[in-house]
Amino acid sequence: MSRRKRVYEGNGKVLYEGPEPGTLVQYFKDDAIARQKRGVITGKGVLNNRISEYLMQRLGEIGIPTHFLRRLNMREQLIQEVEIIPLEVVVRNVVAGSLAERLGMAEGTALPRSIVEFYYKSDDLGDPLVTEEHITAFGWSTPQELDEVMHMALRINDFLCGLFYGVGIRLIDFRVEFGRLWQNDDMRIVLADEISPDNCRLWDLKTNEKLDKDRFRRDLGQIAEAYQEVARRLGILLEGGPTDMRGPETMQ
Ligand code: TMP
Repeated sequence: MSRRKRVYEGNGKVLYEGPEPGTLVQYFKDDAIARQKRGVITGKGVLNNRISEYLMQRLGEIGIPTHFLRRLNMREQLIQEVEIIPLEVVVRNVVAGSLAERLGMAEGTALPRSIVEFYYKSDDLGDPLVTEEHITAFGWSTPQELDEVMHMALRINDFLCGLFYGVGIRLIDFRVEFGRLWQNDDMRIVLADEISPDNCRLWDLKTNEKLDKDRFRRDLGQIAEAYQEVARRLGILLEGGPTDMRGPETMQ
């Protein structure tokens, strides 16, 4: 692994050059970072790799193009190299997190309709909330691309809401990224990055127990267990899975 060329390292993942041109290997780390808080959630990378694979595959089956090609091993997946649109796209169904803080609203309030927000990807600026006007004026994306991104984000939301509801989980909100996939002179917008409890808010339907990264952000404990519970409910973790969180067994 160390001999491969590392092309990018983020909070939760490392990207390496892939075996063929136009591909990358996405490696999922156990590191967790939220604002000033840093930690390691043992086994998180293994679970996120498997959960993201599963969700990207299901989304692919309903016609959402994604960068995902195949899982390589416990912590790595092969993806298509894309030109990332520098936006974090957040879809919200229920008030939580920064929306609750910014507008002084009670967490848990159902929104009258799903809301899509854009944040400009910049670590230095702390990923500020931006409007379509900023995005198109500064050339981060075009109006046509944004229409497609918005449409895809809402389709992803509808599908994932149903998928999670079916396993007793409420999809509160999530954050995704999109990329431009160039094939000769053609360009397609595809879903990139990952979808996992690191970038979703997932609450138990009956108890509202948090099954996502908020357990880390808010020091709620039992973090890896919550991620494991999501995988178990999705049917991708062996029942009564191993307690050894360094390498939970996953099904093919
Ligand atoms: P927020 O309420 O903190 O703005 O988060 C909205 C959603 O985006 C939530 O599901 C968590 C996710 N998210 C990330 O994946 N990465 C981030 O850096 C932040 C701030 C949020």
